[in-house]
Amino acid sequence: MGLIYFRDGKVIAESGNARVYKMDDKLFLEKGPGHDLWALEDELQDYIEQLDSWPKGECLEIGLGLGVASRYILTFPNVASLTTVELDQSVIDVQAIANPINDSRHLILKAHGLYYLYQTDRLFDFIFLDFYKVIDEDTLPTIADMITAARLRLKPDGKLLGWLDKHTEGNDYLIFMSLFNS
Ligand SMILES: C[S@@+](CC[C@H](N)C(=O)[O-])C[C@H]1O[C@@H](n2cnc3c(N)ncnc32)[C@H](O)[C@@H]1O
Repeated sequence: MGLIYFRDGKVIAESGNARVYKMDDKLFLEKGPGHDLWALEDELQDYIEQLDSWPKGECLEIGLGLGVASRYILTFPNVASLTTVELDQSVIDVQAIANPINDSRHLILKAHGLYYLYQTDRLFDFIFLDFYKVIDEDTLPTIADMITAARLRLKPDGKLLGWLDKHTEGNDYLIFMSLFNS
């Protein structure tokens, strides 16, 4: 039988409804009473492929998770700052223990991404949306709302990207892509 993070891994951080496990030197974040997996360190490869060479200047990220994407964005030398907006204080707490990022360019804010986008007057060179676990008929409307709000906070040459779950079904995939390309 293969390894399962919540059976074979070790809890290394826990706060409220969030828990981080470590297995085979890799981190896994789950939230809630069940084993609801929200982020895993293995997604770094997705971020490398999908973010390409876009992060630069003033960056905004919606959804902290394990901070894997945050850490990666901060490796780009042309990134002047990264603001990460996270809804869940428990996630902020466990991320700080399991995967602390010590970079003076990084600011983590506890807020709902949509509210932040409509309330801030800052403009960004790069915005990365990664606040959903899957792309489906339940999450696509909220992704669409977040895209609408994020576009208002982009500088004229700014770039908006959203994490693409490689397992997204055909129709959901087409809708997701059309939201970013419209
Ligand atoms: C898929 S995880 C992000 C993974 C992250 N990119 C990483 O590198 O680990 C999604 C995160 O978004 C947060 N989230 C969900 N809805 C949100 C919202 N409306 N605004 C801000 N954060 C939200 C969740 O609590 C969770 O921490």
